[in-house]
Amino acid sequence: MATGARGNRVVLSPVQSDGAGSVFTRISLAINRVQFRAIVTATLIAASFLPVPLLAQATRSPVAPRRELVESVVREAYAHFRSDTSGKNADYIPYLAQVDTKLFGIAIVTTDNQVLTLGDADYAFSIQSISKVFTLALAMEELGPDKVFQRIGSEPTGRAFNSVTAVVDMPTHTGNPLVNAGAIATTSLISGKDANEKWNKILAFYGKVAGEKLTLIEDVYKSEAATNTGNKALAMLLAKYERIYADPFESVDIYTKQCSVGVNATQLARMGATLANNGVNPATGEQVIKREDIPYILATMTMAGLYDSSGGWAWHVGLPAKSGVGGGIVAVAPGKGAIAVFAPPLDEAGNSVKAQKVIEYVAIKLHFNLFSPGSVGLE
Ligand code: DON
Repeated sequence: MATGARGNRVVLSPVQSDGAGSVFTRISLAINRVQFRAIVTATLIAASFLPVPLLAQATRSPVAPRRELVESVVREAYAHFRSDTSGKNADYIPYLAQVDTKLFGIAIVTTDNQVLTLGDADYAFSIQSISKVFTLALAMEELGPDKVFQRIGSEPTGRAFNSVTAVVDMPTHTGNPLVNAGAIATTSLISGKDANEKWNKILAFYGKVAGEKLTLIEDVYKSEAATNTGNKALAMLLAKYERIYADPFESVDIYTKQCSVGVNATQLARMGATLANNGVNPATGEQVIKREDIPYILATMTMAGLYDSSGGWAWHVGLPAKSGVGGGIVAVAPGKGAIAVFAPPLDEAGNSVKAQKVIEYVAIKLHFNLFSPGSVGLE
């Protein structure tokens, strides 16, 4: 059964025929036609008042009918790319150069909270730039999307994630919330009486999106804090253009901490699945991101999630995604779920090579490409 097309059918045929007639037929034998109609009408009216997420949760199970297919596709992808040695660990943050290049984990979490994992899916790596997505979500929780749009913008830069020239050249200077300059400015929007309160708020928010408490990887933070002169320069440049909204160095420090948060592939996939599920964490059921903010977040990820290779990614894969120089990438299939892959070696743009290949493979085989009508079951 095609995903996306099954919701209504499940609602309308709750019990299969067992030879003695369907539930509806058996009920109608016991009561007259008018009473039967009244009961059906009352039930439908009552159902229409159910909160939408509840109905959606009950009727949408993107993987269940095809769990075996999904499992076999993920296994194929793992076997296919396991021994791919292309790419190189990030080394401008010294800690990252030391991470085992062979680590390789895949996790899928669906909007109905099914979890598939393979390989090193429990290994905690630094979230790095993927954090930018969730600080953006928190900034929108606090300020609303319009203010965030005005203060940061959402134009792709077409440049490297840490580009100085983009800050100078772009009319908004900040570019978008997913490049370093825009992300540091987004972090500066988070309210709090001091740096500690702001940081703790960010960390707690990430934990709610992941469905479990997350922690800072101290060694990553120390390594990055000792070498982040480029980000400090970006923050000072933003100050010149009045496009940073708190103390520039304080904002860089909080940003450096948010990049050093540890996640494993399973937690990251759950964070993505929360975006796929209209902001409701599929494991805890909590609405942690406002439903109306989700399209802004996913649009931004589509345009800038893989930096200057976002266009190629949209062309080949067609899913909103976000990468981090720690080696993680999470891609979101709205309404269905998310896939997270961790493998440290990166390409020139700073995106995990194996993670891109695995996600592309899985997305094609499972018809996830958002720009294809096949993604909603129209073959
Ligand atoms: O600020 C930095 O350079 C890193 N903390 C994050 C960059 C990053 O992850 C870019 N990702 N692909």
